[in-house]
Amino acid sequence: MKVVEKIKYPIKEEMKVFEEKFKQSMSSTVPLLDRITHYIVRRKGKQMRPMFVFLSAKALGGEVTEKSYRAASLIELLHTATLVHDDVVDDSNMRRGFFSINALWKNKIAVLVGDYLLSKGLLLSIDNEDFDILKIVSTAVKEMSEGELLQIEKARKLDITEEVYFDIIRKKTATLIAACTAAGAKSIDSDEKTVEKFHKLGELIGVAFQMKDDLFDYTNSKIGKPTGIDIKEQKMTLPLIYAINSSEKKDKKWLINSVKKHNTDKKIVKEVIDFVKKSGGIEYTETKMKNYQQEAMELLNDLDASDAKNSLITLVDYVIDREK
Ligand code: IPE
Ligand code: IPE
Ligand code: MG
Ligand code: MG
Repeated sequence: MKVVEKIKYPIKEEMKVFEEKFKQSMSSTVPLLDRITHYIVRRKGKQMRPMFVFLSAKALGGEVTEKSYRAASLIELLHTATLVHDDVVDDSNMRRGFFSINALWKNKIAVLVGDYLLSKGLLLSIDNEDFDILKIVSTAVKEMSEGELLQIEKARKLDITEEVYFDIIRKKTATLIAACTAAGAKSIDSDEKTVEKFHKLGELIGVAFQMKDDLFDYTNSKIGKPTGIDIKEQKMTLPLIYAINSSEKKDKKWLINSVKKHNTDKKIVKEVIDFVKKSGGIEYTETKMKNYQQEAMELLNDLDASDAKNSLITLVDYVIDREK
Protein backbone atom coordinates (compact mmCIF):
# COMPACT_ATOMS: atom_id res chain seq x y z
CA MET A 1 0.00 0.00 0.00
CA LYS A 2 1.19 3.48 -0.79
CA VAL A 3 1.94 5.57 2.26
CA VAL A 4 -0.88 8.06 1.68
CA GLU A 5 -3.39 5.24 1.34
CA LYS A 6 -2.06 3.76 4.54
CA ILE A 7 -2.53 7.08 6.34
CA LYS A 8 -6.05 7.48 4.98
CA TYR A 9 -7.08 3.93 5.78
CA PRO A 10 -8.88 4.63 9.11
CA ILE A 11 -10.58 7.72 7.62
CA LYS A 12 -11.27 6.49 4.10
CA GLU A 13 -15.03 6.91 4.34
CA GLU A 14 -14.67 10.28 6.06
CA MET A 15 -12.39 11.64 3.32
CA LYS A 16 -14.94 10.61 0.70
CA VAL A 17 -17.77 12.31 2.54
CA PHE A 18 -15.53 15.32 3.08
CA GLU A 19 -14.83 15.77 -0.64
CA GLU A 20 -18.52 16.14 -1.38
CA LYS A 21 -19.11 18.52 1.54
CA PHE A 22 -16.07 20.58 0.62
CA LYS A 23 -17.26 20.92 -2.95
CA GLN A 24 -20.69 22.03 -1.72
CA SER A 25 -19.16 24.55 0.67
CA MET A 26 -17.69 26.52 -2.25
CA SER A 27 -20.69 26.59 -4.55
CA SER A 28 -21.85 29.86 -6.04
CA THR A 29 -24.56 30.95 -8.46
CA VAL A 30 -22.23 33.46 -10.06
CA PRO A 31 -21.01 31.69 -13.22
CA LEU A 32 -17.44 32.99 -13.11
CA LEU A 33 -17.03 31.97 -9.46
CA ASP A 34 -18.59 28.62 -10.19
CA ARG A 35 -16.08 27.99 -12.99
CA ILE A 36 -13.15 28.95 -10.80
CA THR A 37 -14.24 26.90 -7.80
CA HIS A 38 -14.74 23.89 -10.08
CA TYR A 39 -11.19 24.39 -11.27
CA ILE A 40 -9.99 24.56 -7.66
CA VAL A 41 -11.82 21.38 -6.67
CA ARG A 42 -10.37 19.47 -9.61
CA ARG A 43 -6.81 20.55 -8.79
CA LYS A 44 -6.93 19.50 -5.18
CA GLY A 45 -3.82 19.35 -3.06
CA LYS A 46 -2.63 16.74 -0.60
CA GLN A 47 -5.54 17.52 1.77
CA MET A 48 -3.32 17.01 4.75
CA ARG A 49 -5.26 19.48 6.86
CA PRO A 50 -8.60 17.62 6.75
CA MET A 51 -6.65 14.42 7.46
CA PHE A 52 -5.22 16.04 10.58
CA VAL A 53 -8.71 17.08 11.72
CA PHE A 54 -10.24 13.62 11.31
CA LEU A 55 -7.28 11.63 12.61
CA SER A 56 -7.06 13.85 15.70
CA ALA A 57 -10.74 13.30 16.47
CA LYS A 58 -10.42 9.55 16.00
CA ALA A 59 -7.13 9.17 17.83
CA LEU A 60 -8.84 10.68 20.86
CA GLY A 61 -11.35 7.89 20.77
CA GLY A 62 -14.11 9.91 19.17
CA GLU A 63 -16.16 9.47 16.04
CA VAL A 64 -15.95 12.10 13.34
CA THR A 65 -18.95 14.41 13.84
CA GLU A 66 -20.74 16.89 11.57
CA LYS A 67 -18.80 19.50 13.46
CA SER A 68 -15.53 17.77 12.53
CA TYR A 69 -16.55 17.89 8.87
CA ARG A 70 -17.36 21.58 9.10
CA ALA A 71 -14.03 22.25 10.84
CA ALA A 72 -12.20 20.42 8.05
CA SER A 73 -14.10 22.32 5.34
CA LEU A 74 -13.52 25.64 7.07
CA ILE A 75 -9.80 25.01 7.33
CA GLU A 76 -9.39 23.71 3.78
CA LEU A 77 -11.38 26.72 2.48
CA LEU A 78 -9.14 29.14 4.36
CA HIS A 79 -6.03 27.24 3.33
CA THR A 80 -7.12 27.44 -0.31
CA ALA A 81 -7.90 31.14 0.06
CA THR A 82 -4.44 31.85 1.45
CA LEU A 83 -2.77 29.90 -1.35
CA VAL A 84 -4.74 31.83 -3.97
CA HIS A 85 -3.65 35.07 -2.33
CA ASP A 86 -0.11 33.83 -1.73
CA ASP A 87 0.40 33.21 -5.44
CA VAL A 88 -0.59 36.81 -6.09
CA VAL A 89 1.76 38.04 -3.37
CA ASP A 90 4.62 35.85 -4.62
CA ASP A 91 3.77 36.42 -8.29
CA SER A 92 3.81 32.67 -8.81
CA ASN A 93 2.19 31.14 -11.87
CA MET A 94 2.09 27.52 -10.77
CA ARG A 95 0.22 25.68 -8.02
CA ARG A 96 -0.61 22.00 -7.54
CA GLY A 97 1.03 21.06 -10.81
CA PHE A 98 -0.91 23.50 -12.94
CA PHE A 99 -1.50 27.20 -13.53
CA SER A 100 -2.32 29.28 -10.47
CA ILE A 101 -5.57 31.27 -10.35
CA ASN A 102 -3.70 34.54 -10.95
CA ALA A 103 -1.94 33.01 -13.94
CA LEU A 104 -5.25 32.08 -15.54
CA TRP A 105 -7.60 34.84 -14.39
CA LYS A 106 -5.19 37.63 -13.31
CA ASN A 107 -4.57 39.20 -9.91
CA LYS A 108 -7.83 41.13 -9.57
CA ILE A 109 -9.94 38.01 -9.83
CA ALA A 110 -7.58 35.93 -7.69
CA VAL A 111 -7.82 38.44 -4.82
CA LEU A 112 -11.63 38.42 -4.98
CA VAL A 113 -11.81 34.62 -5.21
CA GLY A 114 -9.63 34.36 -2.10
CA ASP A 115 -11.97 36.71 -0.23
CA TYR A 116 -14.95 34.71 -1.42
CA LEU A 117 -13.49 31.44 -0.11
CA LEU A 118 -12.66 33.08 3.21
CA SER A 119 -16.21 34.39 3.66
CA LYS A 120 -17.75 31.05 2.67
CA GLY A 121 -15.67 29.43 5.40
CA LEU A 122 -16.73 31.98 8.00
CA LEU A 123 -20.41 31.58 7.11
CA LEU A 124 -20.20 27.80 7.32
CA SER A 125 -19.13 28.14 10.97
CA ILE A 126 -21.46 30.99 11.86
CA ASP A 127 -24.56 29.34 10.36
CA ASN A 128 -23.90 26.31 12.55
CA GLU A 129 -22.82 28.27 15.62
CA ASP A 130 -19.42 26.59 15.71
CA PHE A 131 -18.00 29.59 17.54
CA ASP A 132 -15.34 27.62 19.42
CA ILE A 133 -13.97 26.23 16.14
CA LEU A 134 -14.23 29.64 14.52
CA LYS A 135 -12.16 31.14 17.31
CA ILE A 136 -9.39 28.56 16.93
CA VAL A 137 -9.27 28.99 13.16
CA SER A 138 -9.62 32.80 13.09
CA THR A 139 -6.70 33.11 15.48
CA ALA A 140 -4.68 31.01 13.06
CA VAL A 141 -5.68 33.13 10.06
CA LYS A 142 -4.73 36.31 11.91
CA GLU A 143 -1.31 34.84 12.67
CA MET A 144 -0.88 33.70 9.08
CA SER A 145 -1.28 37.27 7.83
CA GLU A 146 1.18 38.46 10.46
CA GLY A 147 3.64 35.76 9.43
CA GLU A 148 3.41 36.67 5.75
CA LEU A 149 3.88 40.37 6.53
CA LEU A 150 6.80 39.68 8.86
CA GLN A 151 8.35 37.67 6.05
CA ILE A 152 7.96 40.57 3.62
CA GLU A 153 9.44 43.00 6.12
CA LYS A 154 12.45 40.75 6.68
CA ALA A 155 12.87 40.18 2.94
CA ARG A 156 13.23 43.94 2.53
CA LYS A 157 15.77 44.39 5.28
CA LEU A 158 17.57 41.06 4.89
CA ASP A 159 18.32 41.02 8.61
CA ILE A 160 16.62 37.78 9.55
CA THR A 161 17.92 35.61 12.37
CA GLU A 162 17.19 31.97 13.04
CA GLU A 163 14.83 33.00 15.80
CA VAL A 164 12.82 35.24 13.49
CA TYR A 165 12.75 32.49 10.84
CA PHE A 166 11.05 30.17 13.30
CA ASP A 167 8.67 32.91 14.33
CA ILE A 168 7.70 33.46 10.68
CA ILE A 169 7.10 29.81 9.85
CA ARG A 170 5.27 29.17 13.10
CA LYS A 171 2.90 31.97 12.17
CA LYS A 172 2.51 31.55 8.45
CA THR A 173 2.21 27.74 8.36
CA ALA A 174 2.33 25.93 11.68
CA THR A 175 -0.53 27.84 13.25
CA LEU A 176 -3.04 26.47 10.70
CA ILE A 177 -1.88 22.87 11.18
CA ALA A 178 -2.20 23.51 14.92
CA ALA A 179 -5.76 24.69 14.27
CA CYS A 180 -6.44 21.36 12.49
CA THR A 181 -5.37 19.13 15.34
CA ALA A 182 -6.96 21.44 17.96
CA ALA A 183 -10.25 21.71 16.03
CA GLY A 184 -10.27 17.93 15.54
CA ALA A 185 -10.07 17.53 19.32
CA LYS A 186 -12.62 20.27 19.96
CA SER A 187 -15.08 18.82 17.45
CA ILE A 188 -15.58 15.78 19.65
CA ASP A 189 -15.85 17.87 22.83
CA SER A 190 -12.42 17.10 24.28
CA ASP A 191 -11.46 19.03 27.41
CA GLU A 192 -9.38 22.21 27.25
CA LYS A 193 -6.15 20.50 28.24
CA THR A 194 -6.44 17.97 25.43
CA VAL A 195 -7.29 20.69 22.91
CA GLU A 196 -4.18 22.60 24.01
CA LYS A 197 -2.01 19.53 23.75
CA PHE A 198 -3.27 18.85 20.25
CA HIS A 199 -2.67 22.47 19.36
CA LYS A 200 0.96 22.07 20.39
CA LEU A 201 1.19 18.81 18.47
CA GLY A 202 0.00 20.48 15.27
CA GLU A 203 2.33 23.39 15.78
CA LEU A 204 5.39 21.14 16.02
CA ILE A 205 4.29 19.24 12.94
CA GLY A 206 3.60 22.48 11.09
CA VAL A 207 7.07 23.89 11.74
CA ALA A 208 8.64 20.68 10.41
CA PHE A 209 6.26 20.83 7.45
CA GLN A 210 7.35 24.33 6.43
CA MET A 211 11.03 23.45 6.87
CA LYS A 212 10.48 20.60 4.42
CA ASP A 213 8.80 23.06 2.06
CA ASP A 214 11.79 25.39 2.35
CA LEU A 215 14.17 22.50 1.66
CA PHE A 216 12.23 21.67 -1.53
CA ASP A 217 13.20 25.08 -2.84
CA TYR A 218 16.84 23.96 -2.88
CA THR A 219 16.05 20.89 -4.99
CA ASN A 220 14.93 20.28 -8.55
CA SER A 221 12.07 18.03 -7.44
CA LYS A 222 8.80 18.09 -9.31
CA ILE A 223 6.59 19.31 -6.49
CA GLY A 224 3.87 21.01 -8.52
CA LYS A 225 5.08 24.53 -7.87
CA PRO A 226 8.26 26.40 -8.79
CA THR A 227 11.52 25.62 -6.95
CA GLY A 228 14.55 27.86 -6.60
CA ILE A 229 12.44 30.97 -6.18
CA ASP A 230 12.93 31.84 -2.53
CA ILE A 231 16.16 33.72 -3.14
CA LYS A 232 14.61 35.49 -6.11
CA GLU A 233 11.88 36.65 -3.72
CA GLN A 234 14.55 37.53 -1.13
CA LYS A 235 12.92 35.03 1.19
CA MET A 236 15.64 33.96 3.59
CA THR A 237 15.01 30.46 4.84
CA LEU A 238 17.03 28.40 7.28
CA PRO A 239 19.55 26.87 4.82
CA LEU A 240 20.60 30.36 3.71
CA ILE A 241 20.51 31.82 7.22
CA TYR A 242 22.81 29.04 8.36
CA ALA A 243 25.16 29.61 5.43
CA ILE A 244 25.39 33.31 6.24
CA ASN A 245 25.94 32.74 9.95
CA SER A 246 28.58 30.07 9.48
CA SER A 247 30.69 31.70 6.79
CA GLU A 248 33.55 34.14 7.09
CA LYS A 249 33.12 37.87 6.69
CA LYS A 250 33.96 38.06 3.00
CA ASP A 251 31.53 35.27 2.02
CA LYS A 252 28.88 36.65 4.32
CA LYS A 253 29.08 39.98 2.53
CA TRP A 254 28.92 38.31 -0.85
CA LEU A 255 25.87 36.24 0.13
CA ILE A 256 23.92 39.19 1.49
CA ASN A 257 24.88 41.40 -1.43
CA SER A 258 23.85 38.71 -3.91
CA VAL A 259 20.43 38.32 -2.34
CA LYS A 260 20.04 42.07 -1.99
CA LYS A 261 21.13 43.19 -5.45
CA HIS A 262 21.36 40.19 -7.75
CA ASN A 263 18.31 38.18 -6.70
CA THR A 264 16.96 38.09 -10.26
CA ASP A 265 20.27 37.12 -11.86
CA LYS A 266 19.88 33.40 -12.51
CA LYS A 267 23.62 32.72 -12.60
CA ILE A 268 24.32 34.41 -9.28
CA VAL A 269 21.27 32.80 -7.64
CA LYS A 270 22.63 29.43 -8.74
CA GLU A 271 26.00 30.30 -7.19
CA VAL A 272 24.29 31.24 -3.92
CA ILE A 273 22.34 27.97 -3.93
CA ASP A 274 25.55 26.01 -4.52
CA PHE A 275 27.28 27.89 -1.73
CA VAL A 276 24.41 27.17 0.67
CA LYS A 277 24.59 23.48 -0.22
CA LYS A 278 28.36 23.38 0.34
CA SER A 279 28.06 25.21 3.65
CA GLY A 280 25.99 22.38 5.16
CA GLY A 281 22.83 24.50 5.38
CA ILE A 282 20.68 21.68 4.03
CA GLU A 283 21.91 19.14 6.60
CA TYR A 284 21.56 21.68 9.38
CA THR A 285 17.94 22.36 8.40
CA GLU A 286 17.19 18.64 8.13
CA THR A 287 18.53 18.03 11.63
CA LYS A 288 16.43 20.82 13.09
CA MET A 289 13.38 19.59 11.20
CA LYS A 290 13.84 16.12 12.64
CA ASN A 291 14.01 17.57 16.14
CA TYR A 292 10.55 19.07 15.67
CA GLN A 293 9.29 15.79 14.27
CA GLN A 294 10.69 13.96 17.27
CA GLU A 295 9.00 16.32 19.71
CA ALA A 296 5.68 15.76 17.92
CA MET A 297 6.17 12.00 18.11
CA GLU A 298 6.70 12.22 21.85
CA LEU A 299 3.32 13.89 22.28
CA LEU A 300 1.72 11.18 20.15
CA ASN A 301 3.26 8.48 22.32
CA ASP A 302 0.87 9.28 25.16
CA LEU A 303 -2.22 8.35 23.13
CA ASP A 304 -3.96 5.01 23.52
CA ALA A 305 -3.26 2.55 20.75
CA SER A 306 -5.54 2.86 17.72
CA ASP A 307 -5.49 2.79 13.91
CA ALA A 308 -5.89 6.56 13.92
CA LYS A 309 -2.89 6.97 16.20
CA ASN A 310 -0.79 4.82 13.85
CA SER A 311 -1.92 6.92 10.92
CA LEU A 312 -0.97 10.11 12.73
CA ILE A 313 2.49 8.68 13.34
CA THR A 314 2.81 7.77 9.65
CA LEU A 315 1.51 11.20 8.68
CA VAL A 316 4.12 12.92 10.84
CA ASP A 317 6.80 10.84 9.08
CA TYR A 318 5.24 11.71 5.73
CA VAL A 319 5.47 15.43 6.49
CA ILE A 320 9.25 15.22 6.30
CA ASP A 321 9.68 12.29 3.88
CA ARG A 322 7.13 13.40 1.27
CA GLU A 323 8.10 14.03 -2.33
CA LYS A 324 5.75 16.95 -2.95
C1 IPE B 1 1.35 24.72 0.86
O1 IPE B 1 0.69 23.80 1.66
C2 IPE B 1 1.60 25.99 1.62
C3 IPE B 1 2.56 25.83 2.70
C4 IPE B 1 2.19 26.01 3.93
C5 IPE B 1 3.95 25.50 2.40
P1 IPE B 1 0.46 22.31 1.14
O2 IPE B 1 1.75 21.76 0.65
O3 IPE B 1 -0.27 21.53 2.15
O4 IPE B 1 -0.46 22.57 -0.11
P2 IPE B 1 -1.48 21.63 -0.89
O5 IPE B 1 -2.82 21.90 -0.29
O6 IPE B 1 -1.05 20.21 -0.75
O7 IPE B 1 -1.39 22.13 -2.31
C1 IPE C 1 2.65 29.54 1.64
O1 IPE C 1 3.82 30.21 1.83
C2 IPE C 1 1.46 30.34 2.06
C3 IPE C 1 1.21 30.39 3.49
C4 IPE C 1 1.76 29.61 4.35
C5 IPE C 1 0.23 31.37 3.94
P1 IPE C 1 4.98 30.12 0.75
O2 IPE C 1 4.87 31.22 -0.24
O3 IPE C 1 6.25 29.98 1.49
O4 IPE C 1 4.66 28.71 0.12
P2 IPE C 1 4.47 28.19 -1.36
O5 IPE C 1 5.81 27.65 -1.72
O6 IPE C 1 4.04 29.30 -2.24
O7 IPE C 1 3.45 27.10 -1.25
MG1 MG D 1 4.52 33.31 0.18
MG1 MG E 1 4.36 31.26 -2.30
